[in-house]
Amino acid sequence: MGKRSRLSTPLFDGAVKLLLLGGGELGKEVAIEAQRLGTEVVVVDRYDWAPAMHVAHRHYVIDMLNPEAVKAVVRRERPDAVVPEIEAIAVDALEELEEEGYLIIPNAKAVKIAMNRVELRRFAAEVLGLPTTRYGFAESPDEAVDACDKVGYPCLLKPEMSSSGHGHAKVVEPSPSAVREAYEYSVRHARGKSRRVIIEEFVNLETEFTVLPYRYVSDGGVVTVTPEPVEHWRYGEYHYIESWQPSTKSREVVEKAKEIGRRVAEGLGGLGIFGVEVFLTKDGRVLFSEVAPRPHDTGMVTMVTQDLSEFAVHARCVLGLPVPEPRVLTPGASYAVYADEGNVWAPKFEGVYDALKIDGVNVRVFGKPFTYEGRRMLVVLARGETVEEAREKARRAASLIKITR
Ligand SMILES: Nc1ncnc2c1ncn2[C@@H]1O[C@H](COP(=O)(O)OP(=O)(O)OP(=O)(O)O)[C@@H](O)[C@H]1O
Ligand SMILES: [Mg+2]
Repeated sequence: MGKRSRLSTPLFDGAVKLLLLGGGELGKEVAIEAQRLGTEVVVVDRYDWAPAMHVAHRHYVIDMLNPEAVKAVVRRERPDAVVPEIEAIAVDALEELEEEGYLIIPNAKAVKIAMNRVELRRFAAEVLGLPTTRYGFAESPDEAVDACDKVGYPCLLKPEMSSSGHGHAKVVEPSPSAVREAYEYSVRHARGKSRRVIIEEFVNLETEFTVLPYRYVSDGGVVTVTPEPVEHWRYGEYHYIESWQPSTKSREVVEKAKEIGRRVAEGLGGLGIFGVEVFLTKDGRVLFSEVAPRPHDTGMVTMVTQDLSEFAVHARCVLGLPVPEPRVLTPGASYAVYADEGNVWAPKFEGVYDALKIDGVNVRVFGKPFTYEGRRMLVVLARGETVEEAREKARRAASLIKITR
């Protein structure tokens, strides 16, 4: 375990040091939690003044898809743990660093599986035996037509590698030309050169869960804990907009979702928190969708609902500290605010005064130096007597806030 599992003084001899690969709003909260514990925090991202850089001791600006750049920074810093915060990282570099003895969170293999929809679906459905949507894979337009016919319509094509809904293409009814077009669209929006796609049955969603199981070192070895999940909704967009906790669905459904989350975390192994996305369909199926082996954007609500947020949980897991199950202290909700307009530098946030007059409302401004269209810039957090009240407050507060020049 080395230096981890005890605390120290940052910037001095014997400091415990975390290196975050990716410094977005989720990394920023992990950095803050680590700072609170006296950890030295180094943040790496592809542009300057990324959110977590504002709260780091040092930072680097590199292309994280370049394995040489990633290795050079990690070897120079020699951190006690490397904490990936995004998907687009040179995973070969992580594997090599792990072999050299660096602790990669949760572990290099899990990062590799989770970033690849094809590998992940195989692992979840065929190795772990979890329930998922019907699916097929294709590497050419002809294979896509066959796979769509087998999966059925409507179906959704997704590139093997991409995030935030990039390259998702829905095909509503049998039509070889529509499938070919969807296939080309999907591979054009992929990250990297792969021409492989997954084709999923398009399900009618009743709701979506993010289960947040975590793994930490306990006296008797590594244990997995699966707290109350977060529920969320996207309003027809691919982006998350609103999330809340606790879930308002039946306990039977929630337990099924938790069980999927636990099995994914145990299957992938290592240390830290996992954002396991689970669907509840209108016809009552509880299905594994995908997993991010790190804190999840929909989990920002835990900053107001839980005694230990998902970020505090992650930091403690990574630092080799004990993490008793977080309690949900109050119903709460989050509502993310996105920029409508691109290329606004040093954006201002009007209306925050009125938003904060609402009892139980709080905001987190991420500090991104400029917008692009559809970029998430801040999140509203709200507590309420009930989930409905918290959601209403968060929505109302968010509607008051305008992003301006
Ligand atoms: N098979 C499906 N049927 C119906 N809706 C789906 C399906 N797959 C995905 N969705 C919807 O699209 C959203 C994004 O899908 P997915 O998580 O696979 O993409 P992503 O690129 O990883 O996006 P994110 O980074 O936002 O999680 C899901 O949360 C869900 O709302
Ligand atoms: Mg997702």
